[in-house]
Amino acid sequence: MSTDKPRPPLQPITRANHPDRADPPPGNRSLVAPIWQSVKFEFDTVESTERMFRGQQDGYFYSRSGNPTTRELERLVAELQGRDDCIVTASGIAAVSTTLLALLGRGDHLLCFVETYGPTRYLLRRLLPRFGVEYTMLSVEDAAGIERTLAERPTRLVWFESPTNPALKIVDVEWLTALAHRHGALAVLDNTFAGLHHHGRYPVDVYVHSLTKYAAGHGDVLAGAIIGSSALLRRMREDAIHLGPALDPHAAFLVLRGLKTYHLRRAAQCANALRVAGFLAGHPRVDRVRYPGLPTDPGHALARVQCPDFGSMVTIDLAGTADHARRFVESLALFGLTASLGSTESLAMPPQFLRSRDFTPEQQLACGVGETTVRLSLGIEAAEDLLADLEQALAAAYA
Ligand SMILES: Cc1ncc(COP(=O)(O)O)c(C=O)c1O
Repeated sequence: MSTDKPRPPLQPITRANHPDRADPPPGNRSLVAPIWQSVKFEFDTVESTERMFRGQQDGYFYSRSGNPTTRELERLVAELQGRDDCIVTASGIAAVSTTLLALLGRGDHLLCFVETYGPTRYLLRRLLPRFGVEYTMLSVEDAAGIERTLAERPTRLVWFESPTNPALKIVDVEWLTALAHRHGALAVLDNTFAGLHHHGRYPVDVYVHSLTKYAAGHGDVLAGAIIGSSALLRRMREDAIHLGPALDPHAAFLVLRGLKTYHLRRAAQCANALRVAGFLAGHPRVDRVRYPGLPTDPGHALARVQCPDFGSMVTIDLAGTADHARRFVESLALFGLTASLGSTESLAMPPQFLRSRDFTPEQQLACGVGETTVRLSLGIEAAEDLLADLEQALAAAYA
């Protein structure tokens, strides 16, 4: 309610619902933007409200369609990814589902890969076919299959991730986006593992992120983002408003706060990952280390050209059996035994969680997950503490 309208004396219950506002006076503002924790916004006149709906006046009306705090986050995230617009969502998977539903329709075909986040695969394989969308799922390493599929089958979009989860394969983003465009398909990149500072210079049409990970950074809030050109996102926003994946303003505020230290955290996490990868590569209990920062890694040369850093994820295969891998993760004291990535604390994903139930044995192989695969997400702790923890857990696993 406008506070400059005259008011008669009010009963306590009425007063409690219409308190006086204490907004800062003109020329005075909070250094940190307030959390606009309001679902509704009003104008002084019906005419202004109608003008806003006709797009003739800026403003907010209902937070599912727009809110100043979520808009602040959208503008920042778009800029960090190097695009001009963004839609933030209540989780990363809401960004995935909204993108798929907004861009695809009955009769469309999409190209996707086994090296894709599990719940996204669910949407591609189980949900979209219910709406008449067909897919081809290959390995990102099957360059000939990708070229053949795009040449033979009209394709609406190519959905991919890089680095992939959990094998950390590096996809040639320039090659794949150019190929998609040559065949009239949109290139959509789930850029969660890489981060907002990666891949902005390639002509990817839509970037999807789980902001839950590096952007928020502290493991205490779910959020997602769809990023692209304002022309494409204007159309997608119409669908998003009606699908309703809106991010709560308080969660948006937490992500904005997390982003202040995004680059500092990421640098510390990547430095830890490099130390840990080097340590584990020389350990007799470790068969294989996958980390694009290691010169021996198959993705190293491409990552050097394509990526501003090598990331904070390290995936290892232990020598021995699944039991050794289970004992190893259970013996870790500093690494949380859980999913997710990009937190300030280090995390370990045991092989049980990495095994995919929807894969054929060939797909499982292409995905790069074996009986002793363990995925590590490095945090910002002191490297020597992490190395000591890994050493004692390896000793305990084989004792
Ligand atoms: C690559 C990728 N995309 C999307 C998601 C989904 O994000 P959220 O958990 O925020 O829904 C995740 C979560 O782990 C992910 O790793």
